[in-house]
Amino acid sequence: MGPVTEQTALAPVGVIGAGAMGSGIAQVAATAGHPVFIVDAFEGAAQRACTRITESLRKRAAQGKLDAAEADAIAARLSPCDSVEALPECVVVIEAIVEDLEVKKDLFDTLGRTQPESTLLATNTSSLSIDQIAPAAMHPGRVLGLHFFNPPPAMKLVEVIRGEITTPDVMDTGVALVKAWGKVPVQCASTPGFIVNRVARPFYGEAQRLVQEGVADPATIDACVRTAGFRMGPLELTDLIGQDVNLAVGTSVWHQTGKDPRYEPTPFQQKLVADGNLGRKTGKGVYTYAADGTSPDNIPDEAKVAELVASGVVTNPVARTLAMLVNEAVDLVDRGEAGPADVDLAMTLGTGYPKGPIAWGREIGFRTVRDQLIELDKAFPGGRYRPSPALDTIE
Ligand code: NAI
Repeated sequence: MGPVTEQTALAPVGVIGAGAMGSGIAQVAATAGHPVFIVDAFEGAAQRACTRITESLRKRAAQGKLDAAEADAIAARLSPCDSVEALPECVVVIEAIVEDLEVKKDLFDTLGRTQPESTLLATNTSSLSIDQIAPAAMHPGRVLGLHFFNPPPAMKLVEVIRGEITTPDVMDTGVALVKAWGKVPVQCASTPGFIVNRVARPFYGEAQRLVQEGVADPATIDACVRTAGFRMGPLELTDLIGQDVNLAVGTSVWHQTGKDPRYEPTPFQQKLVADGNLGRKTGKGVYTYAADGTSPDNIPDEAKVAELVASGVVTNPVARTLAMLVNEAVDLVDRGEAGPADVDLAMTLGTGYPKGPIAWGREIGFRTVRDQLIELDKAFPGGRYRPSPALDTIE
């Protein structure tokens, strides 16, 4: 293992699971030149994925976005494969099957027995621990996370996740492959939510709490947060993601951190989900949506926006959101789970934030952020707003 050589660059890649993520990952690997073998438990699903990817490549060629011969060459590198056992020897096998620990462990057991020791075994899990999956495979030091974002062909970021026993060699090869595939790798320990899904939690949580506290209506809170350069406010963004999907990620992080109050789901979002108001996909979430996608009730009170963004931290959606994002990022770095540059890269590429939270903290002043959190902790005791000890020392 080690650096990507000409051989590993062209070696076969296995993809297990031909759904949204598996298909996209297969397309990325085939575009980079690998023969890609796709396996799915449902008969015909792998073949359908190959056909779907081929059609979308041809469509891009017809639109002049891709050379037609190149589109055909990529498509020709994709093959369905009947079973995990029937895969050829691969440089890496990436699984994107159902998010279920026992099912994934079964798969890694089979992969461990059927692929040579030199093959990297990767999971695209977004919420399970690499440390729970890896021991199921023979030679577990070669198991790592390769967490792609949706849709993989368009999203540049890949979180490369190291379990406790993932070897440094395997991490190096994972990072090199991701780069060779035209993506941007960031490295992270196997911590709940990894970088993006962990650090982003307060972006949603603070806005929901501000509405609960009656500080302002959702449209006004969203407009306040947009003044900091975010393309969408947190409440309209969760309507786009799906309130159910966003709540599930938050709840998973909350459980995995032993119910840390920082991640406790809000009654506001729980009620939206219980009432079936899941966002754009159901026509109603925080806002209501007309058939053309506009939301007539997303109209901010501009005078109130100006008043709130000039107010103290407790009622200021911008200051409060940024303080919490910075705190989360600083804590992740302080625990040694990811480096500061990787955290900033992950948040700008993975979520489209205008600035990384570490860079933002430096701009606001880490001690100012600490003092804001102390004020918030006084207003809302219970641990959610406890400042990271590293805010005292980080430069
Ligand atoms: P999906 O439901 O679209 O696709 C899963 C596919 O796996 C289906 O085609 C299913 O037939 C197949 N499958 C299920 N069990 C299998 C097994 N034992 N062996 C072989 N094939 C099996 O799911 P999606 O959204 O593609 O997610 C897959 C994985 O990627 C999950 O672990 C998920 O947490 C993760 N992920 C999802 C993201 C998303 O935005 N959808 C983003 C990042 C990660």
